[in-house]
Amino acid sequence: MEDMVTKPKVFVARLIPEEGLAVLRDWTEIDVWEDELPPPRQVVLQKACEADGIISLVTDKMDAEVMDANPRLRVISNFAVGFDNVDVPAATVRGIPVGNTPGVLTDTTADFAFALLMAAARRIPEAVDYVRAGKWKTWGPQLCLGRDIHDATLGIIGFGRVGQEMAKRARGFCMRVLYYDINRKHEAERELNATYTDLDTLLRECDFVSVYVALTDATRRMISASAFAKMKRTAIVINAARGSIVDLNDLYDALKAGRIAGAALGVTEPEPIPMDSPLLTLPNCLIVPHIASASVATRAQMAQMTAANLIAGLRGDRLPNCVNPEVYEKGTGK
Ligand code: DGY
Repeated sequence: MEDMVTKPKVFVARLIPEEGLAVLRDWTEIDVWEDELPPPRQVVLQKACEADGIISLVTDKMDAEVMDANPRLRVISNFAVGFDNVDVPAATVRGIPVGNTPGVLTDTTADFAFALLMAAARRIPEAVDYVRAGKWKTWGPQLCLGRDIHDATLGIIGFGRVGQEMAKRARGFCMRVLYYDINRKHEAERELNATYTDLDTLLRECDFVSVYVALTDATRRMISASAFAKMKRTAIVINAARGSIVDLNDLYDALKAGRIAGAALGVTEPEPIPMDSPLLTLPNCLIVPHIASASVATRAQMAQMTAANLIAGLRGDRLPNCVNPEVYEKGTGK
């Protein structure tokens, strides 16, 4: 650290696990926003004025205005693998490296996406509600009939880290796996026994259509009315990526009309989903609060990685996980 007496100032936009905070405390003066809700925009701007580094979360918009609040801002470390909350080009232009947490949450997220698939297929939330409401009178031959997972066809849109881990889990259930990605992954598809198809074929043939793409202009609302129209009437849609990838108005229409059989959403747009959203009235739409990476061990690792990125940035070292490495290539890194 350049100055051993005055520690660099870091704004941490929420109470992340102690495994990360402990490391930060040794090297920096941390200012942690401890509320359950994210810091309001005005607070972020005010804290940014004094911060040499910021730890942001998916709920915090890191844009040019935040970056320009303090010319001394040296690094933004995002506590997430996704970074659609950060204006990365704006950071690059300003020579600010942006860090993220790839890898450590892959398995945890895939576990959860598979849990969503199973819960929706076998109607577990509906069954839990049924018992809690005192409706369970006897064993019923037609009670809560769901869809089989074994031998079904799983569609994976986005065959990156999490998509590939889903394929691995699907093999254990003897599923047929189709995948679509803008880049064909020959080696992974051979290894995981997955078949590459175009998107339309995947939508037409799959029992479960699941999404793992990053949110970009190209993927925003990629699952909308035209996609639902191509799916089987028995299809179940799973989204554990980013809410804006699935158009929720169109999803409601498709579920209400029986165009598809169900949905399991680990993410929504907006978050939280408004309590008057009609999707909340549908028993075949399962919604949980963006918790796919929420295991004790994974969140601790994410905190450590976030701290490591931040400290590297403050030291002027290359971030161990940097989403805009061009910041170094151009020699503009701070
Ligand atoms: C991510 O890391 O991008 C998740 O959405 C939050 O854990």
